[in-house]
Amino acid sequence: MSYSSEYEASIQRPGEFWTEKAKQLEWFEFPDTPLAKDANGIDRWFVDGIMNTCHMALDYHVEQGRGEQVAIYYDSPVTQTKQAITYAELTARVATFAGALQEQGVKKGDRVLIYMPMVPEAAIAMLACARLGAVHSVVFGGFAASELAVRIDDAQPKVIVSASCGIEIDRIIEYKPLLDAAIEQAEHKPDNCIILQRPQAPASMIEGRDLDWHVAISDAPKAPCTPVNATDPLYILYTSGTTGKPKGVVRDNGGHAVAMRYSMSAIYNMQPGDVFWAASDVGWVVGHSYIVYAPLLTGLSTVLYEGKPVRTPDAGAFWRVAEEYKVKALFSAPTAFRAIKKEDPDAEFLKQYDLSALETIFMAGERLDPPTYNWVTGITGLPVIDHWWQTETGWGICSNLMGVDPKPCKPGSATLPSPGFDVRILDDEGNELGPNEQGNVAIKLPLPPACLPSVWGDFGRFKSGYLEQFEGYYTSGDGGYKDDDGYVFIMGRTDDVINVAGHRLSTGEMEEVLAGHPAVAECAVIGISCPIKGQLPIGLVLLKDGADIEEQQLNAELVASVRNTIGALACFKTALIAKRLPKTRSGKILRKLLRQISNGEDYSIPSTIDDPNSIPEIESLLRSHQLVASA
Ligand code: COA
Ligand code: AMP
Repeated sequence: MSYSSEYEASIQRPGEFWTEKAKQLEWFEFPDTPLAKDANGIDRWFVDGIMNTCHMALDYHVEQGRGEQVAIYYDSPVTQTKQAITYAELTARVATFAGALQEQGVKKGDRVLIYMPMVPEAAIAMLACARLGAVHSVVFGGFAASELAVRIDDAQPKVIVSASCGIEIDRIIEYKPLLDAAIEQAEHKPDNCIILQRPQAPASMIEGRDLDWHVAISDAPKAPCTPVNATDPLYILYTSGTTGKPKGVVRDNGGHAVAMRYSMSAIYNMQPGDVFWAASDVGWVVGHSYIVYAPLLTGLSTVLYEGKPVRTPDAGAFWRVAEEYKVKALFSAPTAFRAIKKEDPDAEFLKQYDLSALETIFMAGERLDPPTYNWVTGITGLPVIDHWWQTETGWGICSNLMGVDPKPCKPGSATLPSPGFDVRILDDEGNELGPNEQGNVAIKLPLPPACLPSVWGDFGRFKSGYLEQFEGYYTSGDGGYKDDDGYVFIMGRTDDVINVAGHRLSTGEMEEVLAGHPAVAECAVIGISCPIKGQLPIGLVLLKDGADIEEQQLNAELVASVRNTIGALACFKTALIAKRLPKTRSGKILRKLLRQISNGEDYSIPSTIDDPNSIPEIESLLRSHQLVASA
């Protein structure tokens, strides 16, 4: 099968193409209608299919004789723990936890919020929700209480599942006080919280609300799989937009299962029984798709790793895990490999391990910069595959189909559009651009299975944020171009979203926090380049008239507020006092210009600028702090 025949079939005959792919899964009622519009006019996949994602991912494999195969390898260098959980055991544990949730009143359509570190119980809780047809919303452990509170209010969970603590490189993060504070701040209150007590920091419980995980499951019955419609939501996953309020990306059950199963073979070249490792976190889309759902839907063994690429205990961690579990494909973010390279530039650790089972390394989450691509290819001798995707799509929009027709890689490119994604480059007026012309990367509708049909509780936001800029297209928010061979190069966001260590963050949200300081009149947060984390946020602030505060003191207070309000993962460490910010005559801060200055890019001064002198002034401020990249 060639790439072009696979791709063309998906674009010319999408219904037929995806119906064929859907046959790889076990449905309760196979769908007759592949694609139909919903009440909002959005294309929906497999509208009359009846299924259960947990049944497809677990019970089905046990029925097929895969019960004794390992489903999850849990490897936790931070707690010195390892577990190998078979499909039979995982099915039983998930069914029991689903029974425990049911005893707390959780039923189809209810939301369950999961705020957990990288422990098997996080995956068990997700799959238990899927089993009941309940909708999970996993929140990454690095978020602070107020971020959690915003998500509690938006998703309105009946139950919250959490753990007493997470473990970072050199410290324990107590989750329970953060959870308690978030529930205190939120208007919506869950009926119950189920807490996994970890010996590293047991938590105090609130009587009548909190239930110990082990008590909850102690005499819970095993719950069967609840049949759901393919278009029923499986989960909500919040991601940063351009405003302070995160967007709840909605994922359906049927389209998601089909895209997960298909991509596992087509992109990652994995067959049932193989071992796959996505070194990410269940709090991110990569974790949802490629730690939990896609590997299990495919009958693989998946590695769930509670550690970092470095310092747990050393820069050989990735190679150790790859050897130990005979990982066939490893998927992580470029920032992880930059961190390894910094600590072990000559890859001395790699020499200690047998990587003969490892066939491919995949990367996503941010642009794979050519130096990192060249380093990883050079030290491993393996194909290193960049692929571009977003929380909204759930899988790679552009990729190299390693299981269909591998193409030569070009450093800096995510290769070609994945089947189902009709990727176009448009100018600001919506005209299609030719090869090598940079513009807005858009996807012609319909989107393939798994892509979001709405923003949770706010269809208007989905429409205005993604579908209105170019009629008939989904706007990705990324800029880029295609070369003469159709290879896609993603060059970065066109909006105020930045990418810090593979984590997507909103500068607008950080600006809201800075603007809340009593001394700050106005501010702008921009992403500056960082050799390890890709980008780091910095704040430029204007003081209110008469504000009497030293820059150092202000910096410390602003850094603490961002950490306490958004979370440590924002990596906000620098706020500078500026005299003026470049603005239009109507008072809009020229953020794009600020980004161009700090990136060391050429820029043109907009004719609408209020005071051209503000530009050299801000450039010299950034230069004096070494915050301008060399072009
Ligand atoms: N719970 C609580 N705190 C967390 C956390 C979690 N789950 N994850 C990160 N944090 C904290 C960290 O402890 C750190 O705190 P600090 O400022 O007190 O040191 C802060 O958030 C920033 O974390 P991070 O950006 O991860 O920095 P790091 O120095 O700990 O690690 C890397 C750097 C590159 C090793 C790490 O970011 C990494 O492995 N990245 C891979 C990215 C990834 O998986 N992306 C997902 C998409 S594929
Ligand atoms: P997230 O939704 O957190 O997965 O972040 C999605 C964003 O990360 C995209 O819109 C891109 O800006 C960026 N991104 C992800 N993968 C890549 C990639 N392979 N190349 C370039 N940018 C990427």
